[in-house]
Amino acid sequence: EEQTKKASLSYGKKGKKSKEDKEYDLIFEEQIDFVMTDKKSGYDNRKKKKSNRRNRDEDSFKSDASIASEEKKVVTEKTLTKHEKILEGRKKLPVYPYRDEFLAAVKDHQVLILVGETGSGKTTQIPQYLHEIGYSELGKIGCTQPRRVAAMSVAARVAEEMNVKVGHEVGYSIRFENCTSRKTIIQYMTDGMLLREFLTEPDLASYSCLVIDEAHERTLHTDILFGLVKDIVRFRNDLKLIISSATLDAEKFSKYFDDASIFLVPGRMFPVDIYYTKNPEADYVDASVVTVLQIHISQPLDGDVLVFLTGQEEIETAAEILTKRTQALGSRIPELIICPIYANLPSEQQAKIFQKTPKQARKVVLATNIAETSLTIDGICYVIDTGFNKQNSYDARSGMESLMVTPVSQAAANQRAGRAGRTQPGKCFRLFTSYSFHHELDPNTTPEIMRTNMCNVVLMLKSLGINDLLHFDFMDRPPADTLIRALEQLYALGALNDRGELTKLGRRMAEFPLDPMLSKSVIASEKYKCVKEVLSTVSMLSIGSSVFYRPKEKAVHADTAKMNFARGGGGDHITLLRCYTEWADSDYSTQWCFENFVQVRSMRKARDIREQLEGLCERVEIDQNLSSPEDIDTTLKAITAGFFYNTAKLGKSGDYQTVKQRRTVHIHPSSVLSKEEELPGWLTYFELAFTTKEFMRQVAPIKPSWLLEIAPHFYQENDVQDALKKKMPKARKR
Ligand code: CDP
Ligand code: MG
Repeated sequence: EEQTKKASLSYGKKGKKSKEDKEYDLIFEEQIDFVMTDKKSGYDNRKKKKSNRRNRDEDSFKSDASIASEEKKVVTEKTLTKHEKILEGRKKLPVYPYRDEFLAAVKDHQVLILVGETGSGKTTQIPQYLHEIGYSELGKIGCTQPRRVAAMSVAARVAEEMNVKVGHEVGYSIRFENCTSRKTIIQYMTDGMLLREFLTEPDLASYSCLVIDEAHERTLHTDILFGLVKDIVRFRNDLKLIISSATLDAEKFSKYFDDASIFLVPGRMFPVDIYYTKNPEADYVDASVVTVLQIHISQPLDGDVLVFLTGQEEIETAAEILTKRTQALGSRIPELIICPIYANLPSEQQAKIFQKTPKQARKVVLATNIAETSLTIDGICYVIDTGFNKQNSYDARSGMESLMVTPVSQAAANQRAGRAGRTQPGKCFRLFTSYSFHHELDPNTTPEIMRTNMCNVVLMLKSLGINDLLHFDFMDRPPADTLIRALEQLYALGALNDRGELTKLGRRMAEFPLDPMLSKSVIASEKYKCVKEVLSTVSMLSIGSSVFYRPKEKAVHADTAKMNFARGGGGDHITLLRCYTEWADSDYSTQWCFENFVQVRSMRKARDIREQLEGLCERVEIDQNLSSPEDIDTTLKAITAGFFYNTAKLGKSGDYQTVKQRRTVHIHPSSVLSKEEELPGWLTYFELAFTTKEFMRQVAPIKPSWLLEIAPHFYQENDVQDALKKKMPKARKR
């Protein structure tokens, strides 16, 4: 309030209000009312829990020579080089005082549960410690991350700390991107990549130590890894296994790993004041922008802001609004540096979030829940929590998967709040009410394995020779429905036989690091003689970020450019295919991308993916030269061979209904078909996403008769009867 008064007083003197002043006033007009009810004291885990840490009197470890000598240097030299400063920083991390004790514990125990607050140095330091003491001479040190961005950024950081190039001694591997070499001794990777490594190296013989990091996230892949590594340590006595987690209830991990010891690194946390909105906020993106501005003008400058949003689109929207508004405010406010961070952000831009904020400015990081525990950004004092994230959910009975914006759990909200108190006391602004926090949020996030389609993972386990899934050692058993549905789906795709055993087709499918449906399409393309086309289409579908570029001021041009690819039919799949083919024909020209409003970076990624898929086709002996460029139906048939599960037909009301489950779904507005005057009667979709409605993303028209031809075991005549009667009465012979 005082701020408000001061601000209006200063206007009073000026008399006439400039545009900037008006923009400034607006911040107060739209101000959100927050109430503070809780004070989150630091995580005093020292008081709460006694660790069953082991004493290490009897052990004497060679102390690390490089660190020790650097220490001397620091004392004698006044000005430190950049690298020396980094080494200094390493010693300030909470894990550092526990280095020797930790290494002693590793020596004593094959499996260790490591618990430490986010930012204490688990991810960046532990693998280095293991290397420094000599484990890297016995084999690689692997460290898994649930997220690609985290794997990349942490590898970059550790390479910097070790003064080496990423990809040399320190590398990372994520799907479609292998940045490691023969030299690599510390390898960061996504949990999914380590899972795939089991296919080529079932005993993981090239590793001496494995850190399963961010275990508390309980992603599907991490959960499966638990079962596999637990098994491996039984026969590989030389393998060290560290399960690392940011939350305090590590008992569950300990119990699962046969009562493994817990090593606790006490956190250093400052108190964080928690504010709730008085009333629920209708539009949390908007509310977050308003709160950022509110903080920026009312709080001391030496504290950066971290905003939790749910995805790339929201982050881009928020960044855009903030940029506009701060520009309009001009010199009325200090500089605000806006840094987005999400899974598909190009790596050059990722580095920006870690750069130190200049004195006269403030940084605002707009992040997905990647910043909840996977990434630590120094200098954050203010957290704005929208209270949502994107979660997949799965209804095994109907086989429907969707990615939905979902309220976070209390535990996640507390993790988020904790990000504000790493370096000094902080504040967390929750864009929801206190009532909502206490009565509406679940206490904990449900492990992903309980709410996702397991088709992919089941295929992988089957390829590993794990046939009896019902007795697999899951930490939390997935619902029986989910397992059964995955088996059914793989059976329908032809990957399993009726006894649930892997078929030859299944074995080939498992070679591809793709969803089984996509792998099936690739393999089916051989039959339909359109391997080239399907490889391009599948690569474009696998990029994970948007291909088409649509700046607001040139939206019309961009839309026209996109519709040019759509001309000739075939929906989004063939639009993507045409786009890729034309780009390839332009000799992969950057200029061509600019002219056609296509993201050059996405295209390059598609090209990388395509090259890898080509290599895999060779391995499973698929002739890549099969091509039918003039016939889009063959490509769509091959796609349908993988995606016959995902089909919908047009109902009388103008809505679509999924063929088998009869759920109402809609074409996503970004689809080229959404602009079509005449909607196709039947279509196949790539995925469902629930935002405001249940949307089908990436849709293509199909013919109902194809379903009987392609998936006769899945579709009976009565599924497609009406359509056949109407359109092709002659085709139905009796
Ligand atoms: O894994 P944990 O959360 O325990 O911590 P960490 O990721 O190892 O981070 C330790 C320190 O390294 C933090 O202070 C980070 O700010 C810093 N770091 C960094 O500067 N740049 C990165 N890309 C990753 C970490
Ligand atoms: Mg970490």
